[in-house]
Amino acid sequence: TLKGVILVGGPSVGTRFRPLSMDCPKPLFPIAGRPMIYHHVAALAKVPGMKEILVIGFFENSVFDRFLTEVQMEFPEVPIRYLREYQALGTAGGIFHFRDQIVRGAEQFFVLNADIASSFPLQGMIQTHAKHGGVATLLVQRVDKSVASKFGCVVAEPETHEVLHFVQKPETFLSDMISCGIYLFNKDIFDAMRTAVQKRQARLETQGGDGDDLHKGAEVIVLEKDVLAKLASTKKLYAHVCTPGRDFWMQIKTGSSVIPANRLYLQHFLHVAPRKLSNAPRPAGDLGATTTTAVSPGSPPAPIKPIDPTTAHVIQPAYIHPTAVLHPTAKLGPNVSIGPRVLLGPGVRVRDAIILDSVEVKNDACILNSVVGWDCKIGAWTRIEGAPGESTALNATLKGYKIPSATILGKDVTVADEIAIRNCIVLPHKDIKTSQHNEILM
Ligand code: GTP
Repeated sequence: TLKGVILVGGPSVGTRFRPLSMDCPKPLFPIAGRPMIYHHVAALAKVPGMKEILVIGFFENSVFDRFLTEVQMEFPEVPIRYLREYQALGTAGGIFHFRDQIVRGAEQFFVLNADIASSFPLQGMIQTHAKHGGVATLLVQRVDKSVASKFGCVVAEPETHEVLHFVQKPETFLSDMISCGIYLFNKDIFDAMRTAVQKRQARLETQGGDGDDLHKGAEVIVLEKDVLAKLASTKKLYAHVCTPGRDFWMQIKTGSSVIPANRLYLQHFLHVAPRKLSNAPRPAGDLGATTTTAVSPGSPPAPIKPIDPTTAHVIQPAYIHPTAVLHPTAKLGPNVSIGPRVLLGPGVRVRDAIILDSVEVKNDACILNSVVGWDCKIGAWTRIEGAPGESTALNATLKGYKIPSATILGKDVTVADEIAIRNCIVLPHKDIKTSQHNEILM
C-alpha cells in the first residue's frame, strides 16, 4: 500500500509568482481549468493501492477546504487531507513531523512538489523502485546544460541508475540530469531524516540555543540538501529517468511559467483524457478545429448570449468552463483555458493564454501568450500579448526586474480600447489607458 504527499509550502513562498499569488494561493492557481495541485491529486489517486493523499504546508487550514471538498467528490475512494506545519519546516521537515500519519498503514509514499507540471510517471517509478530495492527513487530528467545548475543535479550510474551524486543548485556544472521534485520513498527514509534533525540540533546547540526554540529550529530540514545529498553513493538512492516524448515535466516558479504549463497539460489531455478539455460533450474524433456556427460576412455583430462553447471557433486543445459565454465569431485556441463566467465578444482572438473567472473581453480584442486575471476588463480592438518563447528573455532585466516573457494582468485590471500591452506585468486593480511595452506596472 502507498500514500501520497503533496508539498505546498505556504503564503511566504511563491513570491516570483506575483501578481497571480496575490489573489490566489499558488498551489490553487488554475492551470488547464483545474487548480495546480488537482493534477497531482488526479495522478496519485490513479495509482493502484493508493491509501491516502496528504497535502502538507503552512497555509491556514481554511485555504484548502473548498478544494479538498471538491476533489474528494471526484476521487471518493482515496481520502485526501491537509496537514498544517506550525511553521515553515522545509521540504523534509513537514514530512518528518507528520511521519506517523504518513506511514500509518502504508509501506511506501510518494512526495510531489506542488510547483511543477508533469505527466507524473508514477507507475514507472514504482517498477524502478521495486527493481533496485533502495530507500528512495527520484524522478529525473535531462535538461539543457545551460540551465541544469538551477536545479538539483544528479549523477547516476548508467547501468544501475544508482545516484552517485546529488547536489542542489551546484555552483559549477555537474550534470544535465536534474531532479524533478517527484520521489518515492520507503519508511526507512525517516532514519535519514532523523539523522538530519539530530545533526541540525547538535549544530544549533553549539551555537547556543535552548529549549523549545532549539527543538523547533532542529525540525527545519531540507529534503534535497540534508537528506538526498547525504544518501547519494550509499546504494539507497536511485533515479527513474523520464521517457523523452512521452513524459513531460516543468517547474512553475514565475507567473509566466503557467502558460507553457497550461499548454503541456492541455496537449496531454488531448491524447489521454479529452473529456477534461471541456465539460461539454464532444463527438468522438472531433478534436481538431471546430467551427459550427456560420456568420455571414457584413452582418451586424450578434448580441452576446449564452451559447454552447463548442459553437465558437475552437482550435483544440482548449479548456472552456461551461459557464463561459463566447460569441460565435470569437476564435480561440490552441492552448487556451477559459474560466467560469468569462465573456468573449465578437471577433475576439485568444491563443496560448489563461483567462480567469469573470473576465470581459470586448469585440475584436486579441490575447496571446498572456494570463488575464480575475474580473479584468479588456477593451475593444486591444492587444494583450507576450513573447512566445519562455527562454528568449530569460536573462534580460529592466530596472532590476527580469523582463517578463508574457503579459500577466493581475486581478481587476481595466484596459482601454485600441491599445497594446506587450510583455508587461500589471499589478491588481490598475486602469491602463495607454499602450505599454516591457514594463512592470505597479
Ligand atoms: P527554489 O528555486 O528556491 O524555489 O527551490 P526549489 O525549486 O527547490 O523549491 P523549494 O524547495 O523551495 O520547494 C519545493 C516544493 O516544496 C514547493 O512545492 C514548495 O511549495 C514546497 N515547500 C517549500 N518549502 C516548504 C516548507 O517549508 N514546507 C512545506 N510543506 N512545503 C514546502
